[in-house]
Amino acid sequence: TSRSFKTQAAPPSVPEFAFAFDIDGVLVRSSDPLPRAHKALSYLQKNRIPFILLTNGGGKHEDERVADLSSKLDVPLSTTMFVQSHTPFADMHEYKDKTVMVVGGDGDKCRLVAEQYGFKTVVTPIDIIWAYPEVWPFSQQLLPYYQPFARPLPAPIDPASPSTSLKIDAVFVYNDPRDWGLDTQIIKDVLLSRQGILGTLSAKNGDASLPNKGYQQDAQPPLYFSNPDLLWAAKYHLPRLGQGGFREALEGVWAALTGGPSDGVQLQKIVMGKPHHPTYAFAEKRLIAHRKTLVRQPDGLAAPLRRVYMVGDNPESDILGGNSYESPHGTDWASVLVQTGVYVEGTEPAHRPRKTVGDVWDAVEWAVREER
Ligand code: G3P
Ligand code: MG
Repeated sequence: TSRSFKTQAAPPSVPEFAFAFDIDGVLVRSSDPLPRAHKALSYLQKNRIPFILLTNGGGKHEDERVADLSSKLDVPLSTTMFVQSHTPFADMHEYKDKTVMVVGGDGDKCRLVAEQYGFKTVVTPIDIIWAYPEVWPFSQQLLPYYQPFARPLPAPIDPASPSTSLKIDAVFVYNDPRDWGLDTQIIKDVLLSRQGILGTLSAKNGDASLPNKGYQQDAQPPLYFSNPDLLWAAKYHLPRLGQGGFREALEGVWAALTGGPSDGVQLQKIVMGKPHHPTYAFAEKRLIAHRKTLVRQPDGLAAPLRRVYMVGDNPESDILGGNSYESPHGTDWASVLVQTGVYVEGTEPAHRPRKTVGDVWDAVEWAVREER
């Protein structure tokens, strides 16, 4: 007798569209979740529509930030669906065995993140002011706060013997600096030193007869910023200065010291994070890998990812980045601007989004309707 085989209907394959959500100003305002963020993310998870979180924020290890967001938003999240500003620093293996300076964040949290990424010798401005309080006269009142985060320097700052003095091979700004004065002073000391040897000044420095006020760059240690954000949406009702604000202040000091971009020495820097292409490429790779984990097809295959809705509050990072990213897979990145963060309703955004909506739930509703 022929047995009737009930063909097992293959589970619905994972949709051909997905979401990338910015965090600050879209899902949370500092530590407060936005009203419909939970509804938006749980709807997508219930309907197995893939999404990742793509933020210029940072300051904690991905594990910690994801656990924090998961409990705040009351939605299960994993690091496979998470990219923050300094996540790509973890792949910079060429510096893992060198001496790097990490700037920004609370206390020494960012140092601990760098060490979890595998950087073996990490120095912070707090280590330096703790060892040499005179390096920045105006933060003495903070020394008691800094004490628990300070570690002994791997080498002394001793200009009399440069060969054994502390040498910084690269500077990484992981997150928004808390003490702009101290961090500006220390970064300036590194960048105007001889080959990163703290306590020295570049060889041709100080000779007023030289062009650009005499600061002639030796091999300047590279300076990495994890994001360009001039403004971001925190708890306060108006946008706050972000890491880009610190960079602009540093650029002003640099121009004054070296003669500025006109006849001076350009501040050599690498600025990462949204809207820059490498960050979106990194995020797309992570989204495609995460989407694969949702596939239940027996052959594990899924139709190619056709569209990503990039939902953000900042035209300069989320919308510009979403609009200009050219996917090597031909995936269409559609930017969706929400009015719960930096962007002010009714104003003309600097970069035109595919769609402007009220909040993150409106963004999901509109996109799902688009896909029907
Ligand atoms: O430091 C956080 C700020 O730069 C913006 O973060 O999540 O809006 O990209 P986000
Ligand atoms: Mg934002």
